[in-house]
Amino acid sequence: THENHALFIIFGATGDLAKRKLYPSLFRLYRKKNIQSHFAVIGTARSTWTHEHFREVVTESINSLHPTKQELDEFINHFYYQALNVANTDEYVSIQELAESLDETYHLEGNRIFYLAMAPQFFGTISQHIKSEGIMSEHGFNRLIIEKPFGVDHTSATQLNEEISAVFDEKQIFRIDHYLGKEMIQNIAAVRFGNNIFESLWNHAYIDNIQITLAESLGVEERGGYYDKSGALKDMVQNHILQIVALLAMEPPTVFTDEAIRTEKINALKAVRVYNSDEVKKSFVRGQYSSSDHHLAYREEAGVDPDSNTETFVAGKFLIDNFRWTGVPFYVRTGKNMTEKGTRINIVFKSTPINIFRSIDTPICQTQKLPENVLTIYIQPTEGFSLTLNGKKIGTGFDIDPTKLVFRQSVENLENTPEAYEKLLLDCLNGDATNFTHWDEVEQSWKVVDVIRHTWDDETVDFPNYLPGSMGPKEAFDLLEKDNRSWVWEP
Ligand code: BG6
Repeated sequence: THENHALFIIFGATGDLAKRKLYPSLFRLYRKKNIQSHFAVIGTARSTWTHEHFREVVTESINSLHPTKQELDEFINHFYYQALNVANTDEYVSIQELAESLDETYHLEGNRIFYLAMAPQFFGTISQHIKSEGIMSEHGFNRLIIEKPFGVDHTSATQLNEEISAVFDEKQIFRIDHYLGKEMIQNIAAVRFGNNIFESLWNHAYIDNIQITLAESLGVEERGGYYDKSGALKDMVQNHILQIVALLAMEPPTVFTDEAIRTEKINALKAVRVYNSDEVKKSFVRGQYSSSDHHLAYREEAGVDPDSNTETFVAGKFLIDNFRWTGVPFYVRTGKNMTEKGTRINIVFKSTPINIFRSIDTPICQTQKLPENVLTIYIQPTEGFSLTLNGKKIGTGFDIDPTKLVFRQSVENLENTPEAYEKLLLDCLNGDATNFTHWDEVEQSWKVVDVIRHTWDDETVDFPNYLPGSMGPKEAFDLLEKDNRSWVWEP
């Protein structure tokens, strides 16, 4: 492994994300020797912590990875803390001085990663100070990692982008969408572009529809305050789902480089139809969970307005207006408190033109079409693929029997799979932006989502409308039924 030299400056170092994802990921990279003796971390946040206290918190957060005493001692000594009130210039000066001295101590070669793991309203101020107080290094690289939400609509996203772009250029900005770090999301490209049997059929002539489900079994947990202002559309569709749509719909890049892929993803997203409000009403439905014996209703959750009209479920149909995809619906759905946690993609191929196995006495108009071939990509918790094929039922006669070829990653492999954040941090260290979202992608996604949001905001809605543990409201099923289709996955 190549040892990277870098300083990580984490804004929001006391927060949930840092503790749950960033420190464990850094530790895993350390264990794999992607970072070793030439790295350092400066944690910053409002609280006045000592380096020692910070190190205790980091230790706690990697506890479940069972570090040996030696590993822990070596790793933890690279962590430093500086309190920061984001508007206080003096504290940025302290960060700058600490950064310079750590650079010397650990031979960091002037490489810096600024990780904004905190509320986006401060991104602008922080970036400005990073520049004005000279925290960007003059030798080595400067890279900015930012978390979602990237704005709350197109206007605010544009403003946010202008603020960070005044300091960092697009090549230095790494916008996280953690779905892009998932093994099976990255596998979409492998399945499509590594298998001619699929890529040559990957278009409107052979595909009937595509279904993307991101179901969650949990409710909003302790994030009611954030979620009530966001809702499922902004929380999942604007980012994760539209990124998956882009990966499924894009043209083959000429080579597998970040620039070539981004270009194709942007083209795909630009072809996603931006609906008018009549089209939104026909193509998108929303839901909010009620109570059940074991669950509070969404409106009863902590931090949620008791009259809230925020959606905890969305289902909809995207259309892509280009040569490849005209007429092929991309059905999507996501929600909280659904039957089970399950993220999967179903590619439904067209059935054969006629069913030649029909009984000779039955008029053609009354015969059933053969079941469609379905390619399923299981993203999580199962990771794998399946393909349904029609075969002959064993025995006399000639009945058709659909069978399923299934591949699942073994439990052993899954345990060794790097976590999304670990991969994304390493990509950033390597300067590889393939699995991050470019500004043009973010911008286009907001344009698509804004009209849905505005249409909904102008309408009254009858919430709650689905039971915890279900696959969403009736409307989500009607949506496909009126197109003479149904959801392939019915847990
Ligand atoms: C986050 C959303 O982006 O993704 C959460 O804010 C959601 O609401 C989460 O629970 C789902 O991620 P994962 O990796 O658990 O599927």
